[in-house]
Amino acid sequence: AAGVPSAKERTFIAVKPDGVQRRLVGQVIHRFERRGFKLVGLKLLQVSKNLLSQHYCQLTKKPFYPDLVEYMTSGPVVAMVWEGPNIVQTCRMMVGHTNPAEAHAGTIRADFSLHVSRNVVHASDSLEGAQREIMLWFDGHDLLKWDCIDQSVTS
Ligand code: TYD
Repeated sequence: AAGVPSAKERTFIAVKPDGVQRRLVGQVIHRFERRGFKLVGLKLLQVSKNLLSQHYCQLTKKPFYPDLVEYMTSGPVVAMVWEGPNIVQTCRMMVGHTNPAEAHAGTIRADFSLHVSRNVVHASDSLEGAQREIMLWFDGHDLLKWDCIDQSVTS
């Protein structure tokens, strides 16, 4: 029905190079698992400048863009697709404000970072953005449909 969030809504989440280097991958994944979201795609990759310029196509003219490219290509990134009701908005809330100095306590960025240029994670900011980013980062056949066999866990 209209207004009921789809359990199949998907978002794109990435642990940025600073998060991987600081061994924060497990803690980031833990937060989304703990919330009850479902992991449907996961890979570790070295990001190319070409992929990054498509991912951040609205930002290429910004003064911070060259530094952003250097940062995001400085080491491996963990790219993920997660699924669940209202997930795009909920993950943005869990990730927190772009600038960790303005992020609420308890959000990933507030709990693990100090500066906007090293803010540990990416999360899609809209449904359209999520769909675009998922298609950009993943082949469809690398996203798995799966159900919980254990009936005590919500599918
Ligand atoms: P943006 O898409 O505005 O934020 P978000 O990641 O919360 O969706 O910016 C993308 C990334 O660019 C941001 O996570 C970190 C970097 N950035 C800077 O380095 N300096 C800045 O002033 C801004 C706005 C972003």
